[in-house]
Amino acid sequence: MDKKLFEVAKKYRENSFSPFSRFKVGAALLTEDGKIFGGCNIENSSYGLTICAERVAIFKAVSEGYKNFKRLLVLTDTEELTPPCGACRQVIWDMCGDIEIVLMNLKGKDKSFKMKELLPYPFDKNFL
Ligand code: THU
Repeated sequence: MDKKLFEVAKKYRENSFSPFSRFKVGAALLTEDGKIFGGCNIENSSYGLTICAERVAIFKAVSEGYKNFKRLLVLTDTEELTPPCGACRQVIWDMCGDIEIVLMNLKGKDKSFKMKELLPYPFDKNFL
C-alpha cells in the first residue's frame, strides 16, 4: 500500500465539505516528479455544483503547472471501495491519461486499476 498517498488522502478527507451526503472522500494525486496534491469533495446546496475529491486534487495540480502524473488514490470509509464517478473518469483521462488508480478504505483495504480499465474507449482530444 502507498502509505504516503494514503496519509495525504486521509488528511484531506477530514476537510470534506459534505453536509448533504455525509459521504467524505479524500484523494491524493502523485506527480511524475514526486509531488503530492490532496483533495476532498466539496458539496453545494445546489447539488449539481458539487465537486468530487479527485477533480479537486487534479485541478489544484494542473493550476500549479503540473502536467505529468503517476497515481491517484481515492479514500473513503466504506467496506466496498469507492470508484471514481463518470465525470471524474473523463477528467482523469484527459488530464492524467492511463495512470494507476488506487481505491482504498480507512482500514487500508485497496484495489488498483489502470485508468483504461475504468474508462475503455474514451473520448478525448484525439477526436477533435
Ligand atoms: N464523490 C467523490 O468525491 N468521489 C467519488 O469518487 C465518488 C463521489 C463525492 C461526491 C459527493 O460529495 C459525495 O461523494 C456523494 O456522491
